[in-house]
Amino acid sequence: MSILLTGGSGKTAPRVAALLAADKKPFLLGSRQEPSAGSNGHPTVKFDMSDESTWTKLFESTQIKAVYMMEPRISEPWVPMNKFIDLAKKQGVNRFVLCAGTSATIGKDGMGRVWEHLIESGVDYCVLRPSWFMENLIEPGLAFTIGKLNKIFTAAQGGKIPFISAADIAEVAYHALTDEKSYNCDLRVLGPENLTYDQIAETLSKVLGRKIEHVKLDEAGRIDILVQAGLSEYFARFLTRLEVLASQDFEKGTSDAVERVTGHPPQSFAKFAEENKAVWSSN
Ligand SMILES: NC(=O)c1ccc[n+]([C@@H]2O[C@H](COP(=O)([O-])OP(=O)(O)OC[C@H]3O[C@@H](n4cnc5c(N)ncnc54)[C@H](OP(=O)(O)O)[C@@H]3O)[C@@H](O)[C@H]2O)c1
Repeated sequence: MSILLTGGSGKTAPRVAALLAADKKPFLLGSRQEPSAGSNGHPTVKFDMSDESTWTKLFESTQIKAVYMMEPRISEPWVPMNKFIDLAKKQGVNRFVLCAGTSATIGKDGMGRVWEHLIESGVDYCVLRPSWFMENLIEPGLAFTIGKLNKIFTAAQGGKIPFISAADIAEVAYHALTDEKSYNCDLRVLGPENLTYDQIAETLSKVLGRKIEHVKLDEAGRIDILVQAGLSEYFARFLTRLEVLASQDFEKGTSDAVERVTGHPPQSFAKFAEENKAVWSSN
């Protein structure tokens, strides 16, 4: 019986895969991109939440006991996700771990609808509600503005965010998928400190030995800059909205979930910056 990890090329699933592999627990990465560059030689199957034929093929070939799921970037993602949960349950899957976010609320449009469906289906589940991933800062967009322009542009102003590493999220997901007793609750998966982008820039300046500036933009200015960088108007508005909410301390919070589940405190941003400094050292 295998564990299916969707989002095979994403920030957390490959890390969950590495933990399962080290523990010799059978798993499959599911990705829209066939055996992808991100799969590191791990067994990978084609999986697309928007393409039901990929679900059927998967269950024809493999017995799955648990699934790690995340939000696909499509409209009304809960519709196919809930349909997938129904099919998976019929095929014998009885545990689902959902990676959602701060805003997820049971029953509310978005991942809240999936959360509600998991409870109503009577399956074992855990809903992870991480804050923003530290790894966003090493994605191509921010790697470029920090590496080449020495700047971070946001509309987050002085909002505080408990940035969390994908490694910590993956470790919590690994336990939620494999611990004998299912958690059947949501977990706020947060980093150790509530940080403003000014503080992030300050830490990066120290680690890189050059000044990194946080440029605070208003909503319209932030949308403009994201559209200029090639994002769709829709996605630029979506990301900016998240930053505006963060400016109002929507993300701010504390939680001992990482330590309770994994036995160690979550990684600090200073350590993450030190480990990843090569990504931003392109001057
Ligand atoms: N990034 C953050 O700061 C943050 C903060 C809070 C919560 N979250 C949550 O964490 C999860 C991952 O977030 P992320 O945006 O940072 O992305 P990510 O870790 O880079 O991974 C997202 C993955 O979702 C998979 N995916 C996209 N569309 C799909 C589809 N139609 N069917 C199946 N898989 C699909 C893709 O994997 P393949 O291409 O391999 O299929 C993609 O790699 C999401 O649920 C998000 O809401 C993220």
